Amino acid sequence: MKRTLVALTTVLALAACDGEPSQPPLLLPDGSVEPEPEPEPEQQMEPEPDSEPEPAPDPEPDPEPAEPFEMPEFPGMVVAVDLNPDPDIVEVELIAGGNTLEIGGMRVPVRVYDNVLPGPLIQAKVGDEVIVRFQNKLSEPTTIHWHGLRVSDEMDGNPRIVDPVQASETFEYRFVVPEAGSFWYHPHVRANEQIEQGLYGPLVVHDPADPPVDAERYFVIDDILLDNNGRPPAYLASHPEVMHGRHGNVLLANGQVPPMAIETAEGRVERWRLVNTANARTFTLALSGARFKVIGTDGGRIAEPYEAQVLRMAVGERFDLEVTFDEPGDAVVEALVPTLNDAGDVVTARIPMYEATIAGTGEAPRAIEWPAVEVPERAVDREEEMTFNAFNGPAGVRWVINGLDDPQEPIYTFDEGETVRFSIRNMQGQEHPFHLHGQWFRVLSHPDPYPVPGLKDSVLVPGNATVEIEAYFDNPGRWMAHCHILEHAELGMMSEIVVRPAE
Ligand code: C2O
Ligand code: CU
Repeated sequence: MKRTLVALTTVLALAACDGEPSQPPLLLPDGSVEPEPEPEPEQQMEPEPDSEPEPAPDPEPDPEPAEPFEMPEFPGMVVAVDLNPDPDIVEVELIAGGNTLEIGGMRVPVRVYDNVLPGPLIQAKVGDEVIVRFQNKLSEPTTIHWHGLRVSDEMDGNPRIVDPVQASETFEYRFVVPEAGSFWYHPHVRANEQIEQGLYGPLVVHDPADPPVDAERYFVIDDILLDNNGRPPAYLASHPEVMHGRHGNVLLANGQVPPMAIETAEGRVERWRLVNTANARTFTLALSGARFKVIGTDGGRIAEPYEAQVLRMAVGERFDLEVTFDEPGDAVVEALVPTLNDAGDVVTARIPMYEATIAGTGEAPRAIEWPAVEVPERAVDREEEMTFNAFNGPAGVRWVINGLDDPQEPIYTFDEGETVRFSIRNMQGQEHPFHLHGQWFRVLSHPDPYPVPGLKDSVLVPGNATVEIEAYFDNPGRWMAHCHILEHAELGMMSEIVVRPAE
Protein backbone atom coordinates (compact mmCIF):
# COMPACT_ATOMS: atom_id res chain seq x y z
CA MET A 1 0.00 0.00 0.00
CA LYS A 2 2.74 2.44 0.93
CA ARG A 3 4.71 1.22 -2.05
CA THR A 4 1.73 1.95 -4.27
CA LEU A 5 1.37 5.52 -3.11
CA VAL A 6 5.07 6.24 -3.31
CA ALA A 7 5.27 4.66 -6.74
CA LEU A 8 2.49 6.88 -7.96
CA THR A 9 4.25 10.06 -6.95
CA THR A 10 6.77 9.32 -9.66
CA VAL A 11 4.00 9.55 -12.21
CA LEU A 12 4.00 13.26 -11.58
CA ALA A 13 7.66 13.37 -12.45
CA LEU A 14 6.93 11.37 -15.59
CA ALA A 15 4.06 13.58 -16.60
CA ALA A 16 6.46 16.47 -16.59
CA CYS A 17 9.15 14.84 -18.70
CA ASP A 18 8.72 17.38 -21.46
CA GLY A 19 11.54 19.27 -19.79
CA GLU A 20 9.50 20.99 -17.12
CA PRO A 21 10.20 21.03 -13.41
CA SER A 22 8.04 18.46 -11.69
CA GLN A 23 6.13 18.87 -8.48
CA PRO A 24 8.06 17.71 -5.43
CA PRO A 25 7.26 14.05 -4.72
CA LEU A 26 4.47 13.80 -2.20
CA LEU A 27 4.99 11.45 0.66
CA LEU A 28 2.03 9.88 2.32
CA PRO A 29 1.74 8.10 5.62
CA ASP A 30 1.45 4.36 5.54
CA GLY A 31 -2.24 3.81 5.00
CA SER A 32 -2.56 0.49 6.72
CA VAL A 33 -5.87 1.49 8.28
CA GLU A 34 -8.83 0.15 6.40
CA PRO A 35 -11.22 2.77 5.11
CA GLU A 36 -14.46 3.01 7.02
CA PRO A 37 -17.19 0.86 5.59
CA GLU A 38 -19.63 2.96 3.67
CA PRO A 39 -22.99 3.43 5.31
CA GLU A 40 -25.80 1.30 4.04
CA PRO A 41 -28.20 2.96 1.63
CA GLU A 42 -31.00 2.72 4.18
CA GLN A 43 -29.12 5.02 6.52
CA GLN A 44 -28.53 7.47 3.74
CA MET A 45 -31.81 8.01 2.08
CA GLU A 46 -34.47 6.32 4.09
CA PRO A 47 -37.83 7.37 2.78
CA GLU A 48 -40.12 8.82 5.42
CA PRO A 49 -41.49 5.93 7.41
CA ASP A 50 -45.00 5.89 6.11
CA SER A 51 -47.92 4.26 7.67
CA GLU A 52 -49.66 3.78 4.37
CA PRO A 53 -49.04 0.48 2.67
CA GLU A 54 -47.69 0.39 -0.87
CA PRO A 55 -50.49 1.15 -3.31
CA ALA A 56 -52.25 -2.05 -4.22
CA PRO A 57 -51.45 -3.46 -7.65
CA ASP A 58 -53.80 -2.25 -10.32
CA PRO A 59 -56.85 -4.52 -10.30
CA GLU A 60 -57.45 -3.91 -14.03
CA PRO A 61 -55.91 -6.64 -16.16
CA ASP A 62 -52.94 -5.16 -17.99
CA PRO A 63 -53.51 -5.11 -21.76
CA GLU A 64 -49.91 -6.29 -22.30
CA PRO A 65 -49.05 -8.41 -19.31
CA ALA A 66 -45.35 -7.49 -19.17
CA GLU A 67 -43.34 -8.61 -16.17
CA PRO A 68 -42.66 -5.60 -13.98
CA PHE A 69 -38.98 -4.71 -14.22
CA GLU A 70 -37.05 -5.13 -11.02
CA MET A 71 -34.04 -2.91 -10.44
CA PRO A 72 -30.91 -4.92 -9.66
CA GLU A 73 -29.03 -4.58 -6.40
CA PHE A 74 -25.43 -3.50 -7.10
CA PRO A 75 -23.89 -5.26 -4.08
CA GLY A 76 -21.72 -3.05 -1.88
CA MET A 77 -22.94 0.19 -3.42
CA VAL A 78 -25.15 2.92 -2.08
CA VAL A 79 -28.20 3.06 -4.34
CA ALA A 80 -30.48 6.11 -4.35
CA VAL A 81 -33.94 5.25 -3.04
CA ASP A 82 -36.81 5.79 -5.46
CA LEU A 83 -39.42 7.76 -3.51
CA ASN A 84 -42.08 7.65 -6.21
CA PRO A 85 -44.54 4.71 -6.31
CA ASP A 86 -45.17 5.16 -10.05
CA PRO A 87 -43.25 2.33 -11.77
CA ASP A 88 -42.29 4.67 -14.63
CA ILE A 89 -41.00 7.55 -12.48
CA VAL A 90 -37.79 7.50 -10.51
CA GLU A 91 -37.70 10.27 -7.93
CA VAL A 92 -34.69 10.71 -5.69
CA GLU A 93 -33.22 13.28 -3.35
CA LEU A 94 -29.62 14.30 -3.74
CA ILE A 95 -27.67 16.57 -1.42
CA ALA A 96 -24.25 18.01 -2.21
CA GLY A 97 -22.27 18.88 0.88
CA GLY A 98 -18.91 18.88 2.59
CA ASN A 99 -17.68 16.08 4.83
CA THR A 100 -14.54 14.31 6.00
CA LEU A 101 -13.93 10.73 4.89
CA GLU A 102 -11.20 8.31 5.83
CA ILE A 103 -9.09 7.51 2.79
CA GLY A 104 -5.87 5.50 3.09
CA GLY A 105 -5.72 6.09 6.84
CA MET A 106 -6.09 9.87 6.57
CA ARG A 107 -9.01 12.12 7.34
CA VAL A 108 -9.61 13.76 3.99
CA PRO A 109 -11.90 16.76 3.46
CA VAL A 110 -14.29 15.96 0.62
CA ARG A 111 -17.39 17.33 -1.05
CA VAL A 112 -19.77 14.58 -1.97
CA TYR A 113 -23.37 13.71 -2.78
CA ASP A 114 -25.35 12.24 0.12
CA ASN A 115 -22.21 11.90 2.26
CA VAL A 116 -20.85 8.99 0.22
CA LEU A 117 -18.02 8.58 -2.27
CA PRO A 118 -18.92 7.94 -5.03
CA GLY A 119 -22.40 9.50 -4.83
CA PRO A 120 -25.38 7.13 -4.73
CA LEU A 121 -26.06 5.09 -7.84
CA ILE A 122 -29.19 6.38 -9.55
CA GLN A 123 -30.98 3.81 -11.68
CA ALA A 124 -33.98 3.84 -13.98
CA LYS A 125 -35.26 1.91 -16.95
CA VAL A 126 -35.34 3.22 -20.47
CA GLY A 127 -38.16 5.74 -21.00
CA ASP A 128 -38.62 6.49 -17.31
CA GLU A 129 -39.02 10.00 -16.06
CA VAL A 130 -36.29 10.85 -13.58
CA ILE A 131 -36.80 13.55 -10.97
CA VAL A 132 -33.85 14.58 -8.84
CA ARG A 133 -34.69 16.89 -5.96
CA PHE A 134 -31.32 18.50 -5.51
CA GLN A 135 -30.14 20.51 -2.53
CA ASN A 136 -26.91 22.47 -2.61
CA LYS A 137 -25.34 22.46 0.84
CA LEU A 138 -21.95 23.52 -0.51
CA SER A 139 -20.65 26.99 0.22
CA GLU A 140 -20.62 27.85 -3.50
CA PRO A 141 -22.77 27.46 -6.61
CA THR A 142 -22.93 24.16 -8.48
CA THR A 143 -24.92 22.31 -11.15
CA ILE A 144 -25.37 18.66 -12.03
CA HIS A 145 -24.52 17.42 -15.49
CA TRP A 146 -25.82 13.98 -16.47
CA HIS A 147 -22.83 12.82 -18.46
CA GLY A 148 -23.98 10.96 -21.58
CA LEU A 149 -27.73 11.33 -21.08
CA ARG A 150 -29.46 12.96 -24.02
CA VAL A 151 -31.78 15.15 -21.98
CA SER A 152 -32.90 18.71 -22.78
CA ASP A 153 -30.21 21.40 -22.61
CA GLU A 154 -32.04 23.09 -19.73
CA MET A 155 -31.57 20.01 -17.58
CA ASP A 156 -27.99 19.41 -18.68
CA GLY A 157 -26.22 21.36 -15.95
CA ASN A 158 -24.78 23.91 -18.39
CA PRO A 159 -24.33 27.04 -16.23
CA ARG A 160 -24.55 29.26 -19.32
CA ILE A 161 -28.13 28.16 -19.96
CA VAL A 162 -29.60 27.83 -16.49
CA ASP A 163 -28.03 29.71 -13.61
CA PRO A 164 -26.17 27.46 -11.19
CA VAL A 165 -27.85 26.37 -7.98
CA GLN A 166 -26.65 28.81 -5.35
CA ALA A 167 -25.41 27.77 -1.90
CA SER A 168 -28.31 26.51 0.27
CA GLU A 169 -30.71 26.57 -2.68
CA THR A 170 -32.56 23.71 -4.32
CA PHE A 171 -33.29 22.69 -7.90
CA GLU A 172 -35.43 19.99 -9.43
CA TYR A 173 -33.86 18.17 -12.34
CA ARG A 174 -36.50 16.43 -14.40
CA PHE A 175 -35.95 14.50 -17.60
CA VAL A 176 -36.83 11.33 -19.49
CA VAL A 177 -34.00 8.84 -19.99
CA PRO A 178 -34.13 7.96 -23.68
CA GLU A 179 -31.48 5.23 -23.89
CA ALA A 180 -30.10 2.39 -21.83
CA GLY A 181 -26.48 2.56 -20.77
CA SER A 182 -23.93 3.38 -18.10
CA PHE A 183 -23.70 7.06 -17.27
CA TRP A 184 -22.47 9.30 -14.46
CA TYR A 185 -23.25 12.67 -12.97
CA HIS A 186 -21.06 15.52 -11.78
CA PRO A 187 -20.99 19.34 -11.43
CA HIS A 188 -20.27 21.72 -14.30
CA VAL A 189 -19.13 24.70 -12.21
CA ARG A 190 -15.48 24.84 -11.11
CA ALA A 191 -15.49 21.20 -12.11
CA ASN A 192 -11.74 20.76 -11.67
CA GLU A 193 -12.20 21.37 -7.94
CA GLN A 194 -15.69 20.00 -7.31
CA ILE A 195 -15.18 16.68 -9.12
CA GLU A 196 -11.69 16.22 -7.66
CA GLN A 197 -13.15 16.74 -4.19
CA GLY A 198 -15.63 13.89 -4.70
CA LEU A 199 -18.74 15.23 -6.40
CA TYR A 200 -19.57 12.44 -8.83
CA GLY A 201 -21.79 9.39 -8.92
CA PRO A 202 -22.87 6.57 -11.25
CA LEU A 203 -26.17 6.41 -13.11
CA VAL A 204 -27.56 3.37 -14.91
CA VAL A 205 -30.42 3.17 -17.38
CA HIS A 206 -31.54 -0.43 -17.75
CA ASP A 207 -33.06 -2.03 -20.81
CA PRO A 208 -35.71 -4.47 -19.54
CA ALA A 209 -35.11 -6.54 -22.70
CA ASP A 210 -31.52 -7.33 -21.66
CA PRO A 211 -31.12 -10.88 -20.33
CA PRO A 212 -30.70 -11.16 -16.56
CA VAL A 213 -27.21 -11.64 -15.11
CA ASP A 214 -26.15 -12.98 -11.71
CA ALA A 215 -24.95 -9.59 -10.45
CA GLU A 216 -24.55 -6.04 -11.64
CA ARG A 217 -21.62 -3.95 -10.42
CA TYR A 218 -20.43 -0.44 -11.21
CA PHE A 219 -16.69 0.28 -10.88
CA VAL A 220 -16.04 3.98 -10.42
CA ILE A 221 -12.34 4.65 -10.94
CA ASP A 222 -10.63 7.86 -9.84
CA ASP A 223 -7.38 9.34 -8.61
CA ILE A 224 -6.91 12.23 -6.19
CA LEU A 225 -3.99 14.41 -5.25
CA LEU A 226 -3.33 14.71 -1.52
CA ASP A 227 -0.52 16.25 0.47
CA ASN A 228 1.08 14.71 3.58
CA ASN A 229 -1.87 15.81 5.68
CA GLY A 230 -4.54 14.45 3.37
CA ARG A 231 -5.38 17.90 1.99
CA PRO A 232 -5.67 18.87 -1.65
CA PRO A 233 -2.74 21.02 -2.84
CA ALA A 234 -3.72 24.33 -4.51
CA TYR A 235 -5.56 23.97 -7.81
CA LEU A 236 -3.94 24.94 -11.13
CA ALA A 237 -0.85 26.04 -9.24
CA SER A 238 1.79 23.76 -10.76
CA HIS A 239 3.05 23.76 -14.32
CA PRO A 240 2.55 19.98 -14.80
CA GLU A 241 -1.07 20.37 -13.67
CA VAL A 242 -1.64 23.19 -16.14
CA MET A 243 -0.02 21.18 -18.92
CA HIS A 244 -1.38 17.68 -18.29
CA GLY A 245 -4.24 18.12 -15.86
CA ARG A 246 -4.21 17.15 -12.22
CA HIS A 247 -2.88 13.61 -11.78
CA GLY A 248 -3.52 12.14 -8.35
CA ASN A 249 -1.09 10.24 -6.15
CA VAL A 250 -3.84 8.06 -4.66
CA LEU A 251 -5.97 5.80 -6.84
CA LEU A 252 -9.55 5.23 -5.76
CA ALA A 253 -11.72 2.20 -6.48
CA ASN A 254 -15.30 3.20 -5.63
CA GLY A 255 -14.02 5.83 -3.24
CA GLN A 256 -11.61 3.55 -1.38
CA VAL A 257 -7.90 2.94 -1.61
CA PRO A 258 -7.77 -0.20 -3.78
CA PRO A 259 -8.12 -3.07 -4.11
CA MET A 260 -11.82 -3.40 -3.49
CA ALA A 261 -12.78 -6.97 -2.61
CA ILE A 262 -15.67 -8.75 -4.33
CA GLU A 263 -17.18 -12.15 -3.58
CA THR A 264 -18.51 -14.24 -6.42
CA ALA A 265 -18.71 -17.87 -7.55
CA GLU A 266 -17.80 -20.24 -10.33
CA GLY A 267 -20.57 -20.62 -12.92
CA ARG A 268 -21.84 -17.06 -12.56
CA VAL A 269 -22.10 -14.39 -15.25
CA GLU A 270 -21.99 -10.77 -14.10
CA ARG A 271 -22.27 -7.36 -15.75
CA TRP A 272 -19.55 -4.95 -14.74
CA ARG A 273 -19.84 -1.31 -15.70
CA LEU A 274 -16.81 0.95 -15.49
CA VAL A 275 -16.32 4.71 -15.57
CA ASN A 276 -13.20 6.86 -15.27
CA THR A 277 -14.05 9.90 -13.12
CA ALA A 278 -10.50 11.24 -12.72
CA ASN A 279 -9.70 14.87 -13.53
CA ALA A 280 -7.11 13.91 -16.12
CA ARG A 281 -5.62 10.42 -15.86
CA THR A 282 -6.20 7.96 -18.69
CA PHE A 283 -6.40 4.49 -17.17
CA THR A 284 -5.11 1.34 -18.79
CA LEU A 285 -6.76 -1.63 -17.12
CA ALA A 286 -5.63 -5.26 -17.30
CA LEU A 287 -8.34 -7.89 -16.82
CA SER A 288 -7.45 -11.40 -15.67
CA GLY A 289 -8.86 -14.51 -13.97
CA ALA A 290 -12.19 -14.63 -15.81
CA ARG A 291 -13.62 -14.23 -19.32
CA PHE A 292 -14.24 -10.55 -20.07
CA LYS A 293 -16.35 -9.51 -23.00
CA VAL A 294 -16.94 -5.86 -23.85
CA ILE A 295 -20.69 -5.61 -24.46
CA GLY A 296 -21.19 -1.86 -24.23
CA THR A 297 -19.54 1.55 -24.24
CA ASP A 298 -20.73 5.13 -23.61
CA GLY A 299 -23.98 4.82 -25.55
CA GLY A 300 -25.05 1.39 -24.35
CA ARG A 301 -24.67 -2.07 -25.82
CA ILE A 302 -22.60 -2.51 -28.97
CA ALA A 303 -23.38 -4.53 -32.11
CA GLU A 304 -20.27 -6.70 -31.92
CA PRO A 305 -19.16 -7.68 -28.41
CA TYR A 306 -15.50 -8.72 -28.16
CA GLU A 307 -13.26 -10.39 -25.62
CA ALA A 308 -10.67 -8.10 -24.05
CA GLN A 309 -7.77 -8.41 -21.62
CA VAL A 310 -6.85 -4.73 -21.66
CA LEU A 311 -9.07 -1.65 -21.66
CA ARG A 312 -7.88 1.88 -22.19
CA MET A 313 -10.25 4.37 -20.54
CA ALA A 314 -9.96 8.11 -20.92
CA VAL A 315 -11.74 10.42 -18.51
CA GLY A 316 -15.51 10.18 -18.87
CA GLU A 317 -15.55 6.97 -20.93
CA ARG A 318 -17.56 3.91 -19.91
CA PHE A 319 -17.36 0.20 -20.63
CA ASP A 320 -19.88 -2.55 -19.95
CA LEU A 321 -18.39 -6.01 -19.52
CA GLU A 322 -19.96 -9.44 -19.44
CA VAL A 323 -17.78 -11.33 -16.96
CA THR A 324 -17.97 -15.12 -16.93
CA PHE A 325 -16.45 -17.19 -14.13
CA ASP A 326 -15.44 -20.56 -15.58
CA GLU A 327 -13.18 -21.58 -12.70
CA PRO A 328 -12.64 -20.80 -9.04
CA GLY A 329 -9.76 -18.44 -8.16
CA ASP A 330 -9.29 -14.69 -8.39
CA ALA A 331 -10.38 -12.28 -11.07
CA VAL A 332 -8.54 -8.98 -10.97
CA VAL A 333 -8.85 -5.56 -12.59
CA GLU A 334 -5.44 -3.91 -12.41
CA ALA A 335 -4.44 -0.37 -13.30
CA LEU A 336 -1.23 -0.29 -15.34
CA VAL A 337 0.53 2.89 -14.28
CA PRO A 338 3.77 4.10 -15.86
CA THR A 339 6.28 4.88 -13.16
CA LEU A 340 10.03 4.95 -12.49
CA ASN A 341 11.93 2.21 -10.69
CA ASP A 342 14.91 2.80 -8.38
CA ALA A 343 17.26 2.77 -11.35
CA GLY A 344 15.25 5.52 -13.00
CA ASP A 345 13.82 3.32 -15.76
CA VAL A 346 10.22 3.65 -16.86
CA VAL A 347 8.35 0.56 -15.69
CA THR A 348 4.69 -0.28 -15.43
CA ALA A 349 3.32 -0.60 -11.92
CA ARG A 350 0.39 -3.02 -11.73
CA ILE A 351 -2.04 -1.80 -9.09
CA PRO A 352 -4.94 -4.14 -8.31
CA MET A 353 -8.14 -2.06 -8.29
CA TYR A 354 -10.83 -4.77 -7.94
CA GLU A 355 -10.22 -8.32 -6.72
CA ALA A 356 -12.99 -10.85 -7.06
CA THR A 357 -12.72 -14.09 -5.12
CA ILE A 358 -14.43 -16.84 -7.12
CA ALA A 359 -15.74 -19.62 -4.89
CA GLY A 360 -15.74 -23.14 -6.33
CA THR A 361 -19.17 -24.64 -7.12
CA GLY A 362 -18.42 -27.10 -9.92
CA GLU A 363 -21.08 -25.33 -11.98
CA ALA A 364 -20.60 -24.33 -15.60
CA PRO A 365 -21.62 -20.82 -16.65
CA ARG A 366 -24.46 -20.38 -19.11
CA ALA A 367 -24.07 -18.47 -22.35
CA ILE A 368 -25.90 -15.14 -22.44
CA GLU A 369 -27.71 -14.19 -25.62
CA TRP A 370 -27.74 -10.42 -25.98
CA PRO A 371 -30.46 -9.04 -28.27
CA ALA A 372 -29.07 -7.66 -31.54
CA VAL A 373 -28.08 -3.99 -31.72
CA GLU A 374 -29.02 -2.21 -34.95
CA VAL A 375 -26.54 0.22 -36.45
CA PRO A 376 -28.41 2.41 -38.94
CA GLU A 377 -26.40 3.74 -41.89
CA ARG A 378 -26.42 7.51 -42.12
CA ALA A 379 -25.32 9.70 -45.00
CA VAL A 380 -22.83 12.42 -44.07
CA ASP A 381 -24.28 15.93 -44.46
CA ARG A 382 -21.18 17.97 -43.62
CA GLU A 383 -17.49 17.60 -42.99
CA GLU A 384 -15.66 19.78 -40.53
CA GLU A 385 -12.24 20.04 -38.99
CA MET A 386 -11.73 20.73 -35.32
CA THR A 387 -8.33 21.60 -33.90
CA PHE A 388 -6.94 21.42 -30.39
CA ASN A 389 -4.04 23.68 -29.58
CA ALA A 390 -2.37 25.75 -26.85
CA PHE A 391 -0.75 29.13 -26.61
CA ASN A 392 0.98 31.24 -24.02
CA GLY A 393 -1.22 34.14 -23.00
CA PRO A 394 -0.37 37.00 -20.66
CA ALA A 395 -1.80 35.00 -17.76
CA GLY A 396 -0.15 31.71 -18.75
CA VAL A 397 -1.02 28.69 -20.85
CA ARG A 398 -4.41 28.65 -22.57
CA TRP A 399 -5.95 25.58 -24.20
CA VAL A 400 -8.07 26.24 -27.27
CA ILE A 401 -10.51 24.55 -29.64
CA ASN A 402 -10.38 25.94 -33.21
CA GLY A 403 -8.06 28.67 -31.92
CA LEU A 404 -10.78 30.02 -29.60
CA ASP A 405 -10.10 30.57 -25.91
CA ASP A 406 -13.28 29.87 -23.92
CA PRO A 407 -15.57 31.17 -26.71
CA GLN A 408 -18.96 32.45 -25.59
CA GLU A 409 -20.48 32.11 -29.07
CA PRO A 410 -21.22 28.65 -30.50
CA ILE A 411 -18.34 27.25 -32.57
CA TYR A 412 -20.80 25.45 -34.88
CA THR A 413 -24.50 25.58 -35.62
CA PHE A 414 -26.13 22.52 -37.17
CA ASP A 415 -29.68 21.52 -38.02
CA GLU A 416 -31.41 18.81 -36.05
CA GLY A 417 -30.82 15.47 -37.73
CA GLU A 418 -27.53 16.43 -39.39
CA THR A 419 -24.70 13.92 -39.56
CA VAL A 420 -21.34 15.64 -39.38
CA ARG A 421 -17.93 14.09 -39.91
CA PHE A 422 -15.19 15.77 -37.88
CA SER A 423 -11.46 15.41 -38.21
CA ILE A 424 -10.20 16.32 -34.77
CA ARG A 425 -6.56 17.38 -35.05
CA ASN A 426 -4.45 17.70 -31.95
CA MET A 427 -1.57 20.09 -32.69
CA GLN A 428 0.29 19.51 -29.41
CA GLY A 429 1.76 16.56 -27.54
CA GLN A 430 -0.70 16.54 -24.63
CA GLU A 431 -3.74 14.30 -24.96
CA HIS A 432 -7.32 15.57 -24.76
CA PRO A 433 -10.36 13.44 -23.92
CA PHE A 434 -13.02 15.20 -26.03
CA HIS A 435 -16.60 15.19 -24.73
CA LEU A 436 -19.75 16.28 -26.54
CA HIS A 437 -22.96 16.85 -24.57
CA GLY A 438 -26.40 15.78 -25.69
CA GLN A 439 -25.47 13.81 -28.84
CA TRP A 440 -23.82 10.58 -29.87
CA PHE A 441 -20.92 10.07 -32.21
CA ARG A 442 -19.01 7.13 -33.62
CA VAL A 443 -15.26 6.91 -33.92
CA LEU A 444 -14.31 6.27 -37.55
CA SER A 445 -10.56 6.21 -37.13
CA HIS A 446 -8.23 6.33 -34.18
CA PRO A 447 -4.43 6.08 -34.05
CA ASP A 448 -4.29 3.82 -30.99
CA PRO A 449 -4.43 0.00 -31.00
CA TYR A 450 -7.58 -0.19 -28.85
CA PRO A 451 -11.02 -0.70 -30.36
CA VAL A 452 -13.39 2.26 -29.82
CA PRO A 453 -16.75 0.80 -30.88
CA GLY A 454 -20.31 1.88 -30.35
CA LEU A 455 -22.03 5.18 -29.73
CA LYS A 456 -19.75 7.53 -27.85
CA ASP A 457 -19.88 10.85 -26.05
CA SER A 458 -16.22 10.87 -24.99
CA VAL A 459 -13.08 9.90 -26.89
CA LEU A 460 -9.37 10.29 -26.29
CA VAL A 461 -7.52 12.44 -28.81
CA PRO A 462 -3.86 11.49 -28.28
CA GLY A 463 -1.01 13.97 -28.61
CA ASN A 464 -0.08 15.11 -32.15
CA ALA A 465 -2.73 12.84 -33.65
CA THR A 466 -5.99 13.00 -35.56
CA VAL A 467 -9.20 11.22 -34.61
CA GLU A 468 -12.14 11.06 -36.99
CA ILE A 469 -15.67 10.91 -35.70
CA GLU A 470 -19.16 11.00 -37.17
CA ALA A 471 -21.57 12.93 -34.95
CA TYR A 472 -25.37 12.68 -35.02
CA PHE A 473 -26.93 16.02 -34.07
CA ASP A 474 -30.36 14.67 -33.21
CA ASN A 475 -30.99 16.54 -29.98
CA PRO A 476 -31.79 20.25 -30.44
CA GLY A 477 -30.34 22.83 -28.05
CA ARG A 478 -27.08 24.38 -26.97
CA TRP A 479 -24.49 21.78 -26.11
CA MET A 480 -21.12 21.94 -24.48
CA ALA A 481 -18.18 20.47 -26.38
CA HIS A 482 -14.99 20.39 -24.36
CA CYS A 483 -11.92 18.63 -23.15
CA HIS A 484 -12.68 16.47 -20.12
CA ILE A 485 -9.27 17.12 -18.60
CA LEU A 486 -10.95 19.52 -16.23
CA GLU A 487 -7.90 21.78 -15.95
CA HIS A 488 -7.83 22.18 -19.74
CA ALA A 489 -11.55 22.99 -19.76
CA GLU A 490 -10.99 25.54 -17.02
CA LEU A 491 -8.14 27.10 -19.04
CA GLY A 492 -10.12 27.71 -22.22
CA MET A 493 -10.99 24.34 -23.75
CA MET A 494 -14.74 24.77 -23.37
CA SER A 495 -17.07 25.54 -26.25
CA GLU A 496 -20.66 25.10 -27.38
CA ILE A 497 -22.38 23.67 -30.45
CA VAL A 498 -25.94 24.72 -31.29
CA VAL A 499 -28.44 22.32 -32.84
CA ARG A 500 -31.39 24.17 -34.43
CA PRO A 501 -34.68 22.33 -33.97
CA ALA A 502 -36.35 21.01 -37.12
CA GLU A 503 -39.65 22.79 -37.87
CU1 C2O B 1 -18.65 14.87 -17.90
CU2 C2O B 1 -19.18 18.45 -19.80
O1 C2O B 1 -18.93 16.70 -18.82
CU1 CU C 1 -7.40 18.64 -22.83
